[in-house]
Amino acid sequence: MLTAEENELLARIGPGTRMGALQRRYWHVVCGVEEMAVRWTKRIRLLGEDLVLYKDRSGGYGLLAEACPHRRASLAYGIPTADGIRCPYHGWQFDRSGRCTEQPNEPADSTLRQAQGRLFKDKVRTAGYPVEELGGVLFAYLGPEPVPLLPRLDGFITDGPAIRMYGQTLVPCNWLQIMENSLDPVHAEWLHGHLAEFVEEQRGGARFSHSRKHLKIAFAEFEYGIYKRRLLKGASEDSDDWRVGHPVFFPNILAVGSGGGELWKMNAYQIRIPKDDTHTLHVWYDVFIPPPGVAVPQHLLDTVTVYDIPAVDASGEFILDLLDAQDVMAWTTQGPIAEREHEHLGTTDAGIIAFRTMLRRELAKVEAGEDPIGVIRDPARNERITYAVEKNKVHFADGFESYAARVHNRHYPHVAELAAVFAANAKPIAAAYGD
Ligand code: FES
Ligand SMILES: [Fe+2]
Repeated sequence: MLTAEENELLARIGPGTRMGALQRRYWHVVCGVEEMAVRWTKRIRLLGEDLVLYKDRSGGYGLLAEACPHRRASLAYGIPTADGIRCPYHGWQFDRSGRCTEQPNEPADSTLRQAQGRLFKDKVRTAGYPVEELGGVLFAYLGPEPVPLLPRLDGFITDGPAIRMYGQTLVPCNWLQIMENSLDPVHAEWLHGHLAEFVEEQRGGARFSHSRKHLKIAFAEFEYGIYKRRLLKGASEDSDDWRVGHPVFFPNILAVGSGGGELWKMNAYQIRIPKDDTHTLHVWYDVFIPPPGVAVPQHLLDTVTVYDIPAVDASGEFILDLLDAQDVMAWTTQGPIAEREHEHLGTTDAGIIAFRTMLRRELAKVEAGEDPIGVIRDPARNERITYAVEKNKVHFADGFESYAARVHNRHYPHVAELAAVFAANAKPIAAAYGD
């Protein structure tokens, strides 16, 4: 249990908050590159700030405060230039750093409001943040200089052919309850197990479920965050779930296991982007690396496809036969910001306590002038960040098509072709779980 004040401290991330200062030490996903293919600007809400992402005519990206510093019109309607953007209202031009580089209707020597004799335009600045692209995704850094390196996580860079996709949904709740879910292995047994079975019971279906009992759970810190492991009923202590587990990259990325055994590889990231205190963009960035020699339709390899993943239906009800919407239901029903002063933590909440402890510790490091965990400044450490992850997840026990139909990938526009690539190559693994 936290006090109401401690809860506020850990959850709120707007400008001027302490947790907001910690979050600003990390790069955050802004959008998929594909989203900018047919547009020049996109409104972005991030860490409680209203921003505009724009593409200039040289193909570069910038991220500025939405409101023009002249008289507050929106730069979302701006006119891109060679290396910046002009406000639609009076044409003031800004570069990526937020500097005003031109005021077309001011006299060239305007020193209006002069103080130190500098030109008027040189005194006007707006917030401008660095943007970088990696693996078909645009990231931004809203923190203080010097800007750290954008982490080159495995899968965002790949050696050979890979099918990559960027699925997204907007979750109407605070980022922290979503991250706490990632340190809570036992929920899978209930939310994705017994509840999923109950949903199927009402539909008259009988699909694969995750209701195996958790016999043991464990958490261990590593260089970039926390690993979690579980021993499921029927599995041996040699099972990947218990021997390997999977990591949470502090503060907002989960990387889950793969299903290919030795046949194929998968990186599956769940990235939680705090838009403001009560809205979180949830991105599923999946990378499927096919087995050698398997033909893959070229168009699957060419683009990192951006697609939407609905968590609720037309009547506003959660779509509970979709595994990921089961999670969204749990997070959302905890409230816009979960009232942790009313919770009762049990022994299975050890991972949640570990994460909160890490948040407080990393906050203290930032306030002492240090870099928090996982901030990278040495390029030699950032060639490619690889990590161990389970290769035999029980999720895949009844084949790839069943897996793809139960999870967010079912909304990937090319899911049938994806399944065709992997269906014949998904080794049944039920044996590993004592079936
Ligand atoms: S409001 Fe932007 S230039 Fe006037
Ligand atoms: Fe879950």
